[in-house]
Amino acid sequence: MAAKRSSQKLRPIITEHWDDPNLFTLAGYQKVGGYKALKAALKKTPDQVIELVKASGLRGRGGAGFPTGMKWGFVPKKGDKPRYLVVNADESEPGACKDVPLMLADPHLLVEGVIITSYAIEAKEAFIYIRGEVPEAVRRVSWAVKEAREAGLIGRNVAGSDYSLEVTVHAGAGAYICGEETALLDSLEGFRGQPRLKPPFPAVAGLYAAPTVINNVETIANVPFIVTNGAEWFRGYGTEKSPGFKLWAVSGHVERPGIYEAPFGITMRELLDYAGGVRYGRDVKFWIPGGSSVPMLTAEHLDIPLTYEDLAAAGTMLGTGTPMVFDTTTSVVKAVTRWLEFYKHESCGKCTPCREGTYWVVDILQRFEQGDGKKTELKLLDDLSNQIEGRSFCALGDAAATPFPAAMKYFADEFDLATKTPVDKTFDPAATMLKSPVAV
Ligand SMILES: Cc1cc2nc3c(=O)[nH]c(=O)nc-3n(C[C@H](O)[C@H](O)[C@H](O)COP(=O)(O)O)c2cc1C
Ligand code: SF4
Repeated sequence: MAAKRSSQKLRPIITEHWDDPNLFTLAGYQKVGGYKALKAALKKTPDQVIELVKASGLRGRGGAGFPTGMKWGFVPKKGDKPRYLVVNADESEPGACKDVPLMLADPHLLVEGVIITSYAIEAKEAFIYIRGEVPEAVRRVSWAVKEAREAGLIGRNVAGSDYSLEVTVHAGAGAYICGEETALLDSLEGFRGQPRLKPPFPAVAGLYAAPTVINNVETIANVPFIVTNGAEWFRGYGTEKSPGFKLWAVSGHVERPGIYEAPFGITMRELLDYAGGVRYGRDVKFWIPGGSSVPMLTAEHLDIPLTYEDLAAAGTMLGTGTPMVFDTTTSVVKAVTRWLEFYKHESCGKCTPCREGTYWVVDILQRFEQGDGKKTELKLLDDLSNQIEGRSFCALGDAAATPFPAAMKYFADEFDLATKTPVDKTFDPAATMLKSPVAV
């Protein structure tokens, strides 16, 4: 599974064999070295595997970037409660599209990562919680689990070792909030998916109140590579604080949207180049580094290295590392309104700031979109965002409070204009349609 150098910056590692149509089968996966990492991991002690992942500096790819090895280390290994691994495959954030393609192209990589991770935390049961609106992914991963079980890689005595593991694939019902780790656990237990109060954190009291590790699909997919190649190799990519490589899922107004795998530190300008540039040769107006939950940046930020630390210094976040690009035909008022409509719709209703706040923000923004906003309401929108942020029960509220203040930082004049002119009169809606000259 060595890195293949296909261009100056791109490094297909996770994606190296994605163009092989048989990669999703056990035979196809084994042909490219699949499940060798599992055998190597089983020769180590569980704690050695945890130490290896700690040394690699791998950070969670689900949005928060929490150090993975440290998370695994929080799980108490003494006590009579079982331990669980839960894979968060609920990918629903607007703009995020990396876990689903990974599960479709290479489900056994995820399964191998699941077995190794479960072994490391000494879990006898693992759950893969997949967004149910993507039945293809549920089918592919279920098939891979079945094949692995038939090959003796799941079940009693994994690969002839003393270790035994059961893996269950679970399809969610399609709620964004069920990607929040504790809401996911409630949903998995059969309850309505709503976030739980933390602490206790899942590592101590998670699924069925037992110690649980919850990791993102892409996080888990890195694990076999770290076991095979070592922590130093992994740290050879990216930066000290953002080691490794990433599936950058570039979407929006670019010629070739898709997944570009490259080490942390690549810039948005370089990713844009790989993605064929902005469609019709237009310019970037604004872009978002990772899903709609992180603050937007503009064309002046295209040369910032895409790392946790550099994006934080620029006042935003890496998030899921799935950049969305918007060209000059896009109304920022319209974009922010669409995102807030999403958050309002997906708010689980448990806490007042998010439930009520998103309702009122959308109500006001929709009037701005019609050219009917009032200047005094700009202050009101700011107040509402402040009341939601930091006062909500979970990070969905904080995410909902992000788009408006970030947009005002760079495009206050557009909100001003929307107090007298409907957005569709300033921006021609037809011009933002996704038709690309390349695709025609
Ligand atoms: C509203 C909301 C939705 C989320 N959706 C996802 C998701 O679909 N997939 C995911 O891995 N993490 C999601 N997260 C983050 C998870 O709560 C959690 O941090 C993550 O699964 C941890 O995995 P990691 O350490 O491997 O990144 C979401 C968080 C929030 C607040
Ligand atoms: S912030 Fe929103 S999604 Fe999170 S618990 Fe409160 S109402 Fe539910």
